[in-house]
Amino acid sequence: MSESSGDALLASLQSGELPRHVAVIMDGNGRWAADRGLPRWRGHREGMRAVRRTVEAALELGIPYLTLYAFSLENWSRPEQEVGALMHLLNEFVEREIDDLRQQGVRARVFGDRERLPPTSRSSVETLEADTAEGTRLNLNVAISYGSRDEIATAARRLAALAAEGRLDPADIDSVRFAEELYTAGWPDPDLLVRTSGEMRVSNFMLWQIAYAEIHVTPVLWPDFGREELFAAVADFQKRERRFGGVTS
Ligand code: FPP
Repeated sequence: MSESSGDALLASLQSGELPRHVAVIMDGNGRWAADRGLPRWRGHREGMRAVRRTVEAALELGIPYLTLYAFSLENWSRPEQEVGALMHLLNEFVEREIDDLRQQGVRARVFGDRERLPPTSRSSVETLEADTAEGTRLNLNVAISYGSRDEIATAARRLAALAAEGRLDPADIDSVRFAEELYTAGWPDPDLLVRTSGEMRVSNFMLWQIAYAEIHVTPVLWPDFGREELFAAVADFQKRERRFGGVTS
């Protein structure tokens, strides 16, 4: 996409309805590296650059929520070396990007089971959240050590405990009350779910929250993702007719 055609597309996207929340399953780092005869961590490193480009593009478009699936609970079973490289990249990402993110008005949050993170990563995450807490242009949420079934089971357990203590009437548990126990409490649900590398799966990602999301799957591998691909996903979203289970008006 040339600069001018990209700008024309930007203007046209901004004149339509933008998703309030875009969630992304970043996939294909390993394949990107294998295609080049490189170790997997090199794919993850390029993936980190794609995160940067995608954040810039979301800011440019004016999308208020961007959520990225960086590391699942299942990913803990990958070889120790790969897990170590990913944790290292997380620390590097925070170190490199924190000032720019703050200056650009990005509020970054990390969600998932952070008790399992190594202490250095946990402290990186805490610094990132504290230093960007004032951001109001873009909410950047990064799922790390995250699994949606686990999130839902934890929410159910908390509500059951409140009910058992007599502090909550089970009759008051509805979908709104339930959502208050999820990591995403207070955020709008994703309107658009993007998955890279062509896989047609949701992989235990935000199962509750994506109930009505439009899904855009691109064959592009995550390290090759950027402005053009995010714009294409939003253009695809704008062609969809959203009915939320109702009928066309
Ligand atoms: C999936 O590709 C990607 C991951 C498991 C990690 C995602 C991490 C990053 C994009 C970099 C770090 C990000 C931040 C925010 C610091 P895969 O390894 O499953 O690829 P494959 O399916 O081709 O093997």
